[in-house]
Amino acid sequence: MTIKIDPKAIDALTNFTLPTEIGFGKTIVPIMAVTDYKDGVWSPLELLPYAPIVMDPTCKVLHYGQEIFEGMKAYHVEEKGPYLFRPMMNAKRFNLSAQRMAMPDIPEELYMEAVRSVVEYSTDFIPTKSGESLYLRPFMIATENSLGIKPSDSYKFMVIASPSGSYFKNEALKVLIEREFIRASPGGMGYAKTGGNYAGSLISAKKARDLGYEQTLWLDGLEKKYIEEMSGMNFFAVIDGKIVTPTIQDTILDGITRNSLITIAKDLGYEVSEEKFEIEKLLSSIEDGSCTECFACGTAAIITPIGLFGDCTNNTWEVKNPIGPVSSKLKETLLALQEGRLEDKHEWRMEVK
Ligand SMILES: Cc1ncc(COP(=O)(O)O)c(C=O)c1O
Repeated sequence: MTIKIDPKAIDALTNFTLPTEIGFGKTIVPIMAVTDYKDGVWSPLELLPYAPIVMDPTCKVLHYGQEIFEGMKAYHVEEKGPYLFRPMMNAKRFNLSAQRMAMPDIPEELYMEAVRSVVEYSTDFIPTKSGESLYLRPFMIATENSLGIKPSDSYKFMVIASPSGSYFKNEALKVLIEREFIRASPGGMGYAKTGGNYAGSLISAKKARDLGYEQTLWLDGLEKKYIEEMSGMNFFAVIDGKIVTPTIQDTILDGITRNSLITIAKDLGYEVSEEKFEIEKLLSSIEDGSCTECFACGTAAIITPIGLFGDCTNNTWEVKNPIGPVSSKLKETLLALQEGRLEDKHEWRMEVK
């Protein structure tokens, strides 16, 4: 597969330097890979200079939120790489999201070529410290201009890239157990990576911030009894030495970090249980001390320990030593795999030549 390179994209790269403070998602490499879908066909892939998208005010994505995205990372590896980590899983999840949102599939090879091109041309801008990376944001939007509510007849797929440091400060999170709003319900779109799920979570993010918390823990939509996930991360706890995480269902995003951690944990000899996970079980096990660690995980967040839970009743539950041995070992192993320091026995890394 070929990509047409606009010389202006190369010029833009020549003039680009990384700022000293990278942050997360703020610095963007000045290029973008683009392909448009019309009449059942994707146009030839192009690498263009980063620029605003010009849209008609009736553009469907602006009104009906028909859009999907992915989050993945490329890692700097001395004298090799860069490496992508399980990128085909992102390509497949992207198409799962596309199907749910009545959008066309993008051929996996086209998705991968767009990602690879952006990574290749951004190689010099991948930060090099452990935990830093080039965060990649593939996304697709509905571009038809019309106010009728129906699937768009045209779409734009793009990949942009952001050299990034860590998502959170290196501290345990304070988490609000959301007992009022819900994120997803069976038959809904919770498993899709689509903007509406994130827009709908923001009211709780605001509430959490107002109450002194940093993140929301979502419960199931029917009974508000079972833990589902966070707004942008999956959830794990360590109870009686066993690693516990909610079973994936259509209300939960099937995280690639979660999936990888389950395998890594089993490889390291931990017992892992995927189960319907009652919030009351978590809270009572924090109270009686059998829950020793809780953490959130995701591509952006990697592994972030949770130190405190609270809810609207003003009750709080504190995890005593949140940065515990299990999450520390899992994080160290995951990063070593992603950053090329550990044997890749599951063949998860993909080198971008
Ligand atoms: C809602 C939600 N859950 C979980 C995750 C973690 O998924 P992954 O590990 O694939 O990044 C993410 C991040 O993509 C997310 O947005």
